[in-house]
Parts: sequence; structure tokens; C-alpha cells
Amino acid sequence: MIQVIDKIDDKIDLIEMKNDDITVVVSNYGCTIIKVLMKDKDDNVDDVVLGYDDFSDYQTKDAYLGALVGRTANRIGKGKFSLNGQTYSLPINNGPNCLHGGIRGFSYQIFDYKIVDNSIEFSYLSKDGEEGYPGNLKFKAIYTLDKETLTIQYLATSDKDTIINITNHSYFNLSGKKENIYHHLLEMKADYFACVDADGLPTGEMKAVKDTPFDFNSPAYIGDRVECDDEQLKLGCGFDHPFIFSKKENQVVLTHEETGRCLIVSTTLPGAQIYTANYLDGRLGKYGQHYNARDAVCIETQNLPDAIHLEKEPSTILKKGEVYDEKTSYQFKVIK
Ligand code: BGC
Repeated sequence: MIQVIDKIDDKIDLIEMKNDDITVVVSNYGCTIIKVLMKDKDDNVDDVVLGYDDFSDYQTKDAYLGALVGRTANRIGKGKFSLNGQTYSLPINNGPNCLHGGIRGFSYQIFDYKIVDNSIEFSYLSKDGEEGYPGNLKFKAIYTLDKETLTIQYLATSDKDTIINITNHSYFNLSGKKENIYHHLLEMKADYFACVDADGLPTGEMKAVKDTPFDFNSPAYIGDRVECDDEQLKLGCGFDHPFIFSKKENQVVLTHEETGRCLIVSTTLPGAQIYTANYLDGRLGKYGQHYNARDAVCIETQNLPDAIHLEKEPSTILKKGEVYDEKTSYQFKVIK
């Protein structure tokens, strides 16, 4: 069942998607996931994503809690890129680079929406030149709840060649924020990760995960890895790196054994930025709790960040008339 449960103002709604397994609250502001309420093995219900009680924090703060990120997730080096011989400039909002689609990226926009059966179809027209990107981009994000699985499909077309790289920036903590993520087990099918510089921008060097703290091909506790003495972990202040998947589905499994909660992420996208909330700064979040580094992990499925500079045939180019069509699903499973 899907229904509007609150109105923030005359344009921004909170919409609840609910079934016997889980309840997901989303907003048409940034298509933001506000809450995910799920049971544990003893049927206790907790919220397994970070967020704010005060809605205005989503509009003014910078950590992208739960938000859909676009037009391009992560960093574009120096905020500049060329396409078809023309140079485009994006806002510089993170060191020397452009992060998460600029200052007023998709996370800060109000989407139209309609409810169709067990889905919410969000739509947005990003005008030619918005945040510096070329092309009128017609964008849709369809959120569907089916039993314990939330699937998000992203669809876009543009009337000019452009670039696109969409993600969802939910911060997961399967304990219900009773503890940090050190005791979360992460399993991820990825043989390579992208090295980053001190500003978090991929350098172009792909490193094999083998024999490094980045190897999650077998499940490992995040806490056993994130503080390891490793140059890349130091540069990222923890994990804040793109991983390249070696598998086409069910690429990431996050488990919190004590509660029996498990999140399985499956995507059509080729990789994910794994971010251990390194820059959460003690800010006030939901239920009066304060959020610090390592209080959550983001599994930001996407194409390679800055692909426009790093890939020979950049996977983030969307040609005029072509359709961008990607899907990520999040299965919130309880192991009894
Ligand atoms: C980035 C981080 C950034 C965070 C919040 C992540 O996707 O990689 O460096 O701090 O988003 O903006």
C-alpha cells in the first residue's frame, strides 16, 4: 500500500510504501529515502537508514542522506569536461572538483510523481544548462516495493549528447543505529577498486583487491578493515572508493549478525562507491541521535566516477535519443 502520510509544504510530500515485511518512507524532494523500517530476527522493528527529523536539514545540509544523486554522482575532475569538441563547466563544490551533480543537483530538486500500483514514478525535467550540463534531460526514477525488496529504476533521455551517472546515497546501519558499522559483515564481488587522490577523485589507477583490506570477496567485518594501515584508506579517511563488480547480480551483501538483518544489493550498474560515512561530523539526525564517522555505510551503485576523463569510451555518455535505463534493488532480509 502506498499513501501520502505528510506534507512538508504545498510541493513536498512524504510518501509511505508499506507491506507486511517493510515500510519505506520517501519524499519527492530529491526522491529521498527517509526511512526503511524492518524487523529483526525477534520481530523488533528498527529504522535501518540514517536521515533527519527536521526536513529542512535535507534541503540545507551536505551529506546526501538517502538522496538520489544526479546528474552525475561523485566527482568530475576540476568540474570540467569536453563533449563533441565543446567544454562544459560544472560548479566546483568539493575541493577543486564538482561533487554529486553540483550545488543544486537532483538531490535538491522537487520531483513530480504519481503512484501506480506498488510503485511511485518520480519525474523531473532537468533543463539544458542546469548545473552546467548539456541537454534537456527527461528523467524518471521508479521506486517499487515488492515484499522485502525495494527496486529503483532510473530512466533518462536527452535532446543533446550529455553525461549521466545516477545513484542513491542511503546510509545503511542494520543495527538500527544501536552501534556503528564495525560489526557489519560486508561481502562484495569485486576484484578491482579505483585509487583516489587526497580530494577523493579517482586517479585512473585500478588496483587489484587481492591481499589488500579492499578484498570483500569473502565476507569481512568492516571494522577489521576500515582502520588498516593502507595508503588508500588514509587518503579516503576510510572506504570512499569505487569498486568494479565482477558479477552481474547480487553483488553486495551486508549482514548484521546480532539482529539477523541482511541487505542484498543487486544492480545493472558496473560498480559502486563504498563510503563508510567518513565525514559525518556529529550532526543531529533522526530520533535525536548524533551521526559520526563509521555510523553507516553507503553502497552507491554507479558507473565509474569521472568516467568522462578516465574511460576511452566513457560509460557515462548518454547520446541524444538513446535511453539510460538502469536498475538497483535492495533486498532487506531477516535471517532467523
Ligand atoms: C563521496 C564522499 C562524500 C559523500 C557525501 C560520497 O559519495 O564519495 O567523499 O563525502 O558522498 O557527500
